[in-house]
Amino acid sequence: MIQDVSTKPFADQKPGTSGLRKKVRVFQQPNYAENFIQAVFDVVTGKEGATLVIGGDGRFLNREVIQVAIRMAAANGFARVLVGQGGILSTPAASHVIRRYGALGGLVLSASHNPGGPEEDFGIKYNIANGGPAPEAVTEAIHARTLSIENYRTFAAPDVDIDSPGLRQVGPLTVEVIDPVADYAALMETLFDFSAIRALFAGGFRMRFDAMSAVTGPYAHEILERRLGAPAGTVVNGTPLPDFGHHHPDPNLVHARDLYDLMMGPDAPDFGAASDGDGDRNLIIGRNQYVTPSDSLAVLAANAHLAPGYARGLAGIARSMPTSAAADRVAAALGVPLFETPTGWKFFGNLLDAGMATICGEESAGTGSDHVREKDGLWAVLLWLNILAVRRQPVAQILAEHWARFGRNYYARHDYEAIPTDRADALMAALRSSLPTLPGLDTPAGPVASADDFAYTDPTDASVSARQGVRIGFVDGSRIVFRLSGTGTEGATLRVYLERYVAADGDLSLETAVALAPLVAAAEALAGIAGHTGMDRPSVIT
Ligand code: G6P
Ligand code: ZN
Repeated sequence: MIQDVSTKPFADQKPGTSGLRKKVRVFQQPNYAENFIQAVFDVVTGKEGATLVIGGDGRFLNREVIQVAIRMAAANGFARVLVGQGGILSTPAASHVIRRYGALGGLVLSASHNPGGPEEDFGIKYNIANGGPAPEAVTEAIHARTLSIENYRTFAAPDVDIDSPGLRQVGPLTVEVIDPVADYAALMETLFDFSAIRALFAGGFRMRFDAMSAVTGPYAHEILERRLGAPAGTVVNGTPLPDFGHHHPDPNLVHARDLYDLMMGPDAPDFGAASDGDGDRNLIIGRNQYVTPSDSLAVLAANAHLAPGYARGLAGIARSMPTSAAADRVAAALGVPLFETPTGWKFFGNLLDAGMATICGEESAGTGSDHVREKDGLWAVLLWLNILAVRRQPVAQILAEHWARFGRNYYARHDYEAIPTDRADALMAALRSSLPTLPGLDTPAGPVASADDFAYTDPTDASVSARQGVRIGFVDGSRIVFRLSGTGTEGATLRVYLERYVAADGDLSLETAVALAPLVAAAEALAGIAGHTGMDRPSVIT
């Protein structure tokens, strides 16, 4: 029986870069999740008879919100819900399932790389029919709706079994519990040469994949160990836990420290990788060789033709503005366009839909292609494995040869976290107003060649996104970018992206910190970071 339940709006349901993300206790308020889901359903059209995909990364509250969403889908006109068994669907797998089954959209329950558990974070994101995150016009409409909502619509029914595959009925709604891995694994088999990778493992190649007790565990067990024959134990932390084992499921050098230490130590296997809470980010480390996300994008783009899914070449490469220009040189060599977009995966969606770009990547550890409309952690790992299976060289050698051909973009990101918002705003305002005076100015990194505030015009629909970050270019091709994070939860986070280009005939084996030292000094001179923030060093360097 359909029920209309009266409710009152919450003032804080504005979706951020990746949906509505809040503390679990916020989501536990009566009607909080219901209001947001109803606002989504009120905004999307075409629900009658349509299919909705529901799944999440397994974090605390995942199962409860899935039951709520199923009952509400039944009352809002959907004909069919596809839900991942156990409530599990990685973000890229959800994107694929939406596309493969022609769904109207999907609810992806995740707070990505943020920690999980009763005191930590939860999130709900709506993806549209192309499999990608809802564009801003849609999320703004959802937000507006949350502010005026008076009731939500649900179906009086007990919880449905989401732990065994098969068909269930909730009133008029058919609930199909699907294997969360099967469709995704089948897609990967179409893109990569599984027999070549199987032969690589059979020849003694060893890797460690750290699933960080998050959603990629079941995917990695199935694909790496079962289908590709990697030895049992290759995948560690492979069971999704509601609190990710008390860890922060962010695959970086701080939170994936164990993997990093292993890969830098005497017993390092050939290859190490990790993914985040919901499976869209990746970390790649060779034996004694960390690969920055910017370099990883460039190497993957330069070698993608070695994988069957990309053998015909790339239509184009896209990177976010703060990502290093390493990929630009690859695009130039391949004779394909390079698109520089603002930070945020959603900016790639239009380029992918239009067939203008094939591979995309960001400095924040996201890489992906036109196979789905989200970034994809395991996809990046499998493309690396395919390349390694063909080239049969260590990661360090592949990187060295890449730099010897294209030159090297030394790169680091310095984050200043939890700055009082007014101080961070004051720093950016001062920097922005100084822009016209900067060209020609001498700094510890040499004279400034260019200075602007990045604005992006989407080549597919001519929409403009302004004020996307301050870019300062130097005469030698080096670059500093300043921007405030759009995903922080406490105060403001200033991100300073430092990049120095050394051509192929220059010194390619400097320590990154040494190579970038003049730029660190220039960043301080140009932005007065210490004066504005009271911090004399970054909180995190990646
Ligand atoms: C999310 C988005 C990414 C973005 C990242 C960093 O993960 O999906 O596309 O690059 O946030 O955003 P921030 O604004 O914190 O630098
Ligand atoms: Zn994520």
